[in-house]
Amino acid sequence: MSTITVFNQKGGVGKTITSLNLAAAMHRSNMPTLLIDMDPQTHLTNIHSAPPGDKMKSLFGFYEQYTHLARLAIDWPGIGHLIPSHRELISVETRYGRGPMVLKRLNSGINAFNQAIPVKHVILDCSPTVGVLTLGAIFAADLVLIPISSDFMALQAAKKVEKTLQALEIFLKKRVPRRYLLTRFDRRRGMTVNVKLEADVLFNEELLRTVIPLDVALAESPADNQHIYQKNSSSKGAKAYEALLDELERNELISSKNKGALIY
Ligand SMILES: Nc1ncnc2c1ncn2[C@@H]1O[C@H](COP(=O)(O)OP(=O)(O)O)[C@@H](O)[C@H]1O
Ligand SMILES: [Mg+2]
Repeated sequence: MSTITVFNQKGGVGKTITSLNLAAAMHRSNMPTLLIDMDPQTHLTNIHSAPPGDKMKSLFGFYEQYTHLARLAIDWPGIGHLIPSHRELISVETRYGRGPMVLKRLNSGINAFNQAIPVKHVILDCSPTVGVLTLGAIFAADLVLIPISSDFMALQAAKKVEKTLQALEIFLKKRVPRRYLLTRFDRRRGMTVNVKLEADVLFNEELLRTVIPLDVALAESPADNQHIYQKNSSSKGAKAYEALLDELERNELISSKNKGALIY
């Protein structure tokens, strides 16, 4: 099993779209995935259905009552499983502080989930806030995936992510493997191409070759409660998320279908 944490301190860069559609690409490759909505804004959960009326049936229950993640999981056809979020999750930040116990809890919870319901991958869709939820998600990560929307401001924000990760690594006492992913990429726009050139220099081999194009099917699918392979499996977006999965597997950044062990 590998855990992929999708993180960027900027909103609207494609974290939720990437979490959803990378998971859907994995499912198409016969690798059911556990998605965890870490964001109190519940965007990912909303794409599946309305968040649970009872907050204890969301990720909040895991933090508040130590509910086993397997008991909180709901099925998501074409994906695998979802641990839904709830707006109350925001209070976890203030209730539990940032001690090592709460930071490590998510990692232990994911391992326990995998014992009960084996999955090949876990994807954590983070909020833009760097609080205890996001820190726990980064601690649990085998790979941090950082979507960058292909515009200049987004590149500035991505530099900030690198600083955050470096600061965290001192605390986590480990180097976190990371890859940057250009999203909303429009080849017809000169600026987008310049952003790619600059990102190449900035992030070097940590910039993924795959880019996610600006795609109307990707933009519209959440409103239809669909992932991209339900919306339009021959769209540019659908092909791009398959290419992303392929690149992550080929470079052994995540465990692949044919391999049990995770190698860096
Ligand atoms: N590649 C893309 N092409 C077109 N629209 C996109 C693309 N990626 C994301 N979007 C749209 O941009 C908005 C923000 O994306 P989202 O994944 O919710 O960002 P984040 O989770 O980082 O806040 C959403 O409305 C989404 O549908
Ligand atoms: Mg989001």
